[in-house]
Amino acid sequence: MARRESEVNDFLQGNFAPWRMEGVAEDLEVTGHVPRELNGTYFRNGPNPAFEPPGRYHWFDGDGMIHAVTLADGRAHYRNRYVGSAGLREERGAGRGLFPGLLDIDPSEAPRFKNTGNTNIVFHAGRLLALMEAAFPTRMDARTLETLGEFDFDGRLFGPMTAHPKMDPETGEMLFFGYSPFPPYLQYHVADREGGLVRSEVIDIAWPTMMHDFAITRDWVVFILCPLVFSFENVKARGGVFSWEPERGTRIGVMPRSGGNADVRWFATDASYVFHPMNAFADGDAIVLDVARYARLDFMSRQSAGDSNFRDENAARLHRWRIDLKGGGVKSTPLDDITAEFPRVDERRLGRRHRFGYMAAREPEPNEDRQPLWNAIKKYDLERGSAETRRFGAGNGVGEPVFVPRTEAAAEDDGWVLVLAYDAARNASDFHVLDARDLAGEPVARVHIPHRVPYGFHGNWVAA
Ligand SMILES: [Fe+2]
Repeated sequence: MARRESEVNDFLQGNFAPWRMEGVAEDLEVTGHVPRELNGTYFRNGPNPAFEPPGRYHWFDGDGMIHAVTLADGRAHYRNRYVGSAGLREERGAGRGLFPGLLDIDPSEAPRFKNTGNTNIVFHAGRLLALMEAAFPTRMDARTLETLGEFDFDGRLFGPMTAHPKMDPETGEMLFFGYSPFPPYLQYHVADREGGLVRSEVIDIAWPTMMHDFAITRDWVVFILCPLVFSFENVKARGGVFSWEPERGTRIGVMPRSGGNADVRWFATDASYVFHPMNAFADGDAIVLDVARYARLDFMSRQSAGDSNFRDENAARLHRWRIDLKGGGVKSTPLDDITAEFPRVDERRLGRRHRFGYMAAREPEPNEDRQPLWNAIKKYDLERGSAETRRFGAGNGVGEPVFVPRTEAAAEDDGWVLVLAYDAARNASDFHVLDARDLAGEPVARVHIPHRVPYGFHGNWVAA
């Protein structure tokens, strides 16, 4: 008898395995003290398949689940809920998984697609949006986490929305894009600070690709075109619709925010893949773009933490691109040889010169297991060229670190780093509140969630 996918796929095992209960836990046990000044909710999204996948499973496939840790007056509360998509409702009705995953897309068949909303959860203009890059946002109730339904900006958005919109810290605008394997391959959008979609424009790109994220500065928009190409030929032989074609190189598209498609200039650099930039800023006649860079992306091989995926050449490291807008070149500088992903900065510095950045990192451990992928948090000081590391220990994986300033006017690293960490000994997760200026020191607070929170993707802090 064929083995179930969950028996053979590392991304369905250990703390990658889904947590299939929804619930509320109030007044959680805390080691240390939740800072009184920290009032609000940390939301985190991630893939959490409600049913055994009907075919091959990719980590990007699972149903979205939102985990919310609310801090209020020194106390901590937890709530979690599925992103209740139409596809998930259909599966619940059938009592089994119905939708093919990313690796099993067959372009010769009618598309069967589920808007899992599993990648990011952002708050803009009073709306909490669960995002996945191939579809509309899904609006959620920020208090109850109830799914309110897909959101198309009152009928103005045509096409999907990236899971990585950028909120301009000065204008309050939300800048984003959407990509598609079919024309138009790329569209750029702007929502004003009230959340109204005020601009949509087709951007010409040289080939259709999975464009996961982008960057902005105060005056520029930066697109990253990587040689992971949607290809609908030889799909069966290749085993999927993505083709890694390094001979194309990687291209960085720079567009003035005051301009449009006709003003985009493309700059060539070595073939590489980037899911996530850390941040970008203008520096004289250059744009500095810090990214988590993969030298190659073996995307189609079987998802297994023990195989090549997210390891060695197939792993990301912090890297700096300096794009010379006058001279035309890209200076490419590795900044670290440790594997790291999920880069974040102080959101007040988004698009502006940042000194500090935070990433989930993989520090080699003496008794290294096949899992987890990331077991440390790094804080980079990019001015001094130094870094501080907090290790969580073998078997204890962490997710994306989110920085929250102590006050609106606080200095760039004066605040806290929030991160979810799996505690293998307890088989449960802790929500850590770390002092950003003493990352390796005793946590300010360790909030004990009563069960594990599966490794996931992105989160954000929404102040009360
Ligand atoms: Fe992402």
